[in-house]
Amino acid sequence: MQVLSVCTWWLLDELGHVVVTFDDLSAGFRNAVLGGIFVQGSLHDKAALSELFGSHQFDAVVHFAGSIAVGESVRDPAKYYQNNLTGTLYLLDAVREHDVNKIVFSSTAAIFGVPQYVPMFVFAGFRVKPGKTVVTTVCVPDR
Ligand SMILES: NC(=O)c1ccc[n+]([C@@H]2O[C@H](COP(=O)([O-])OP(=O)(O)OC[C@H]3O[C@@H](n4cnc5c(N)ncnc54)[C@H](O)[C@@H]3O)[C@@H](O)[C@H]2O)c1
Repeated sequence: MQVLSVCTWWLLDELGHVVVTFDDLSAGFRNAVLGGIFVQGSLHDKAALSELFGSHQFDAVVHFAGSIAVGESVRDPAKYYQNNLTGTLYLLDAVREHDVNKIVFSSTAAIFGVPQYVPMFVFAGFRVKPGKTVVTTVCVPDR
């Protein structure tokens, strides 16, 4: 759980929601989880996901559990396909199996490519340039 998820937790907490954070701490820090319920686990662990969704009644899922380092994605693209694509598919399986019908996926602005105009408008559509693994692996589940 890092910058984006901490901000999201704070807003949801302010609105009175109970937030369950599921993170394998591969890139995050336990002390960044400021409240709510914390469960350590990976999206690749189907049993842990099943236990998570079986133990709590979720109104919605907000998915931030991605790998995001551009340099590392060039050195180790398989890790990025595995985590950003396969991990997301496992999460979507669990979401479907447990009838949670709201999910927000934290994608990347890079799906819009280099903007022709600033500010850019989201209805400009997908303009992903192939070759950037970190972008591709985030964009496939987005689609
Ligand atoms: N940082 C940005 O500016 C930005 C902007 C837009 C979208 N995003 C997207 O938001 C998401 C999160 O970004 P961030 O900057 O908070 O990244 P981050 O690396 O700080 O946080 C990701 C968290 O996910 C956890 N995680 C990674 N793989 C996991 C797995 N398989 N199972 C469980 N937990 C796992 C990590 O331990 C970490 O705590 C990414 O998908 C990124 O593409 C980031």
